[in-house]
Amino acid sequence: MRLIQRPSEMHACVVDWQQAGQKIVFVPTMGNLHAGHLSLVEHAMSLADRVVVSIFVNPLQFNESGDFDAYPRSLDDDLKQLTDFQIDAVFVPSEADLYPQGRECLTWIEVPTLSTMLEGASRPGHFRGVATVVAKLFHLVQPEVAVFGEKDYQQLLVIRQMVADLNFPIEIVGLPTCRESDGLALSSRNSRLTAVERQKAPALYHSLCLIKEKIQAGITEFALLENEATRALHQEGMEPEYVCVRSARDLGPARVGADLVILAAARLGQIRLIDNLRV
Ligand code: PAF
Repeated sequence: MRLIQRPSEMHACVVDWQQAGQKIVFVPTMGNLHAGHLSLVEHAMSLADRVVVSIFVNPLQFNESGDFDAYPRSLDDDLKQLTDFQIDAVFVPSEADLYPQGRECLTWIEVPTLSTMLEGASRPGHFRGVATVVAKLFHLVQPEVAVFGEKDYQQLLVIRQMVADLNFPIEIVGLPTCRESDGLALSSRNSRLTAVERQKAPALYHSLCLIKEKIQAGITEFALLENEATRALHQEGMEPEYVCVRSARDLGPARVGADLVILAAARLGQIRLIDNLRV
């Protein structure tokens, strides 16, 4: 497993692999790897001749500098975990490597509509930061396939839209969310929950399950279901930001009979949790 920091070295590696006709599969991450990330890596291994994982905590996608500073970083442990998978390269650029002009003087990628609702409304600029860094990483790694988790469902749709709009010749694969045994979606931010908060946190997933059950039982007053869940989360001591039933295809308004997804975000103490469930 090669540890690569410089974009030029990453590019040279990719050119060699491409000349040998090898299929590159890419898993972009911000590190602090958990079983959810490792399931993406495992799937990537099953598809590829060469697997590249990137680890880069992207400052452009944090709309609160405190959140960026507090984001857990554990490079040594991440590298140890990746060694077991025998991937080909871990790309760990520095901020100066990826943004040599600094954070302000940049070409941005904006994916309209999808980027400004739900997560985008709560975190202005977040998806522009995600799309910009993912586009840069795609150019450097030039994968045939890139693998993402459905835990960040809206992010997955934003990336699919960007790839379609900008003609990236990349297949985007989304994999199901990995959960703790009590239902809490795995997330790097979970490690910052206090013991009491950790006990309360699965309530977010349970509220999504309850909505799903009701929809499957034929209840289609989506606004009512959203309001009930919001009240229940308040009672659990959370501060819900949104609970929404939407079209799974483009996050537009939910219609009876269409593929749906339920998405929620809530604050629990200092931590902001998100989750989603397909119906
Ligand atoms: O999902 C993440 O970890 C990040 O948003 C990503 C896709 C690696 C971009 O920084």
